[in-house]
Amino acid sequence: MSETLANLLQETRRFPPPADLAAAANVTADAYDSAAEDRLAFWARQAGRLDWSTEWDQILDWSNPPFAKWFVGGKLNVAYNCLDRHVAAGHGDRVAIHWEGEPGDTRTITYADLLAMTSQAANALTDLGVTAGDRVAIYLPMIPEAAVAMLACARIGATHSVVFGGFSADALTNRIQDASAKVVITADGGFRRGKPSALKPTVDEAVAKCPTIERVLVVRRTGQDVAWSDRDVWWHEAVETASTEHTAEAFDAEHPLFILYTSGTTAKPKGILHTTGGYLTQAAYTHHAVFDLKPESDVYWCTADIGWVTGHSYIVYGPLANGATQLMYEGTPDTPHKGRFWELVQKHKVTILYTAPTLIRTMMKWGDDIPRGHDLSSLRLLGSVGEPINPEAWIWYRENIGRGECPVVDTWWQTETGAIMISPLPGVTSTKPGSAMRPLPGISADVVDDQAQSVPDGGGGFLVLREPWPSMLRTIWGDDQRFVDTYWSRFEGLYFAGDGAKKDDDGDLWLLGRVDDVMLVSGHNISTTEVESALVSHPSVAEAAVVGATDPTTGQAIVAFTIPRGSVDTEGSAGEALIAELREHVSKTLGPIAKPRQILLVPELPKTRSGKIMRRLLRDVAENRSLGDVTTLQDSSVMDLISSGMRSGKSDED
Ligand code: WT7
Repeated sequence: MSETLANLLQETRRFPPPADLAAAANVTADAYDSAAEDRLAFWARQAGRLDWSTEWDQILDWSNPPFAKWFVGGKLNVAYNCLDRHVAAGHGDRVAIHWEGEPGDTRTITYADLLAMTSQAANALTDLGVTAGDRVAIYLPMIPEAAVAMLACARIGATHSVVFGGFSADALTNRIQDASAKVVITADGGFRRGKPSALKPTVDEAVAKCPTIERVLVVRRTGQDVAWSDRDVWWHEAVETASTEHTAEAFDAEHPLFILYTSGTTAKPKGILHTTGGYLTQAAYTHHAVFDLKPESDVYWCTADIGWVTGHSYIVYGPLANGATQLMYEGTPDTPHKGRFWELVQKHKVTILYTAPTLIRTMMKWGDDIPRGHDLSSLRLLGSVGEPINPEAWIWYRENIGRGECPVVDTWWQTETGAIMISPLPGVTSTKPGSAMRPLPGISADVVDDQAQSVPDGGGGFLVLREPWPSMLRTIWGDDQRFVDTYWSRFEGLYFAGDGAKKDDDGDLWLLGRVDDVMLVSGHNISTTEVESALVSHPSVAEAAVVGATDPTTGQAIVAFTIPRGSVDTEGSAGEALIAELREHVSKTLGPIAKPRQILLVPELPKTRSGKIMRRLLRDVAENRSLGDVTTLQDSSVMDLISSGMRSGKSDED
């Protein structure tokens, strides 16, 4: 058997860039040629979009792989590049952040304001004893102070470790301990689903087990009561009274900018380390190129939380380095109603929207009439990140949010890559729904078989990166060996971080999900993503998750958990008829080999807090095992719903 990963899904729809966007695009097709001609010179030109206080001597030092050094000898300050230089250029009055709190309170923060706030925070952190090289944990809701805290750390050379505000005391404890953080910046709480939700008690519990923590800096957001100790300091007392003057010092291009932990679902979280010059270069360039940002006229909105890498690179560092005006929203998409996002797009005349497939599929489930009730005519570009986007979800996004006119850019990258790696260029690429298309200029991605040989067009296998890139992770904090073992050992000299992919007949790339999730059915490697996309292409389906369950005849058999669209009748025989129809639909779309053994109609799917489906738990259900670790699950009641449906559901064998 020669196949590495079957290529089942065929897609013929094409969407060329709108003529007006192409005519004025920030990046044109010649970028691919100039990067191919001299990759390092290309990245040096992109680094030149930033202000450096000392020029580098060497673009890349790759003499000790996989430990890269970019822009060796160069010095710059990240916060200066995100703030001071825009103010100095006369853009102090430009809005940096239109902030919307969940309860409806708002703030408008200009670049001059953000610089003043960041300078105050930098002065206050310095007064609290934080110096360059120290680690600072940030555990905040989606309030402007989260961005200010990150920028203030960057400004004084402290390395931040943002921990998502939904994580538990244990998760926070582990991350603080792993990085030996000195200070935590938090809030009394934040607003979520219409209620104040406390953060400070979680910090108190964590800090009790973290002797390295000297100070806890607390933003007052909800006004709820908090326990107080000597190490605690109010933000409004320490920061808002500090001087708004602060001179930024330049740091080495390889100075550690931040650590961000990725939660391997089972193992100890990995502290992904990013540094200064290369990271900012690629975050800023990709934001400019992929979103075609025009700082004078665009209103950009990335719906991610600042606790994920998307929030780091595409709320804080990329957009601010480019002088963008952006919207930042504190809350959830269904509070106080399911049209909240579209109301905000309308209110702020958002032009560029960057969100995740899980959100798009949720909106599909809620129904087309919700976006239709709002004026979305300001939008000109749509982006997606975080998971493979099913072709039908892509089309729904373009039609229902983008009026059938906006280009959709499906962007592939990881916490580890720091910035976008594979994506269409909106003024250049004719897109295909569901494909991330090509590596960006200056990036060399490939798909290889298990012998590390590049697969031909039409073939599937492992997605690898062949050359170092400026925003690459530099190591796993405190564990160089784990860095080498995790990412650089599967294939000699290649970076591999676990995703399967295929090249279509044109050589364009399709992400097929994690290779751990690939199913082996009667000797064929079938990607969960392709079967899920086939299910979502049926008009009655909003979302699907597919797993391989042990099967005595086929090795593994395909089991699908499917969420019907809002209006679909699934009671009794209607449900059974739908299941039969869906099995046929998959068989017709992908071939009989991909026909699910079993389909379950479920109200919800288990997801991590960043919205990725937890197939591991579904595999437990499909194989009738007791559930494994559910601590990273967003809503654990979901599993009860699914398990009870599984026990009562028909297992409709052929
Ligand atoms: C993993 C990385 C990168 C920011 C958010 C996630 C999956 C991400 C795509 C995409 C298919 C995607 C991959 C990747 N992923 N974007 N456009 N198409 N899959 O960061 O939490 O580090 O997750 O997300 O599996 O490896 P992360």
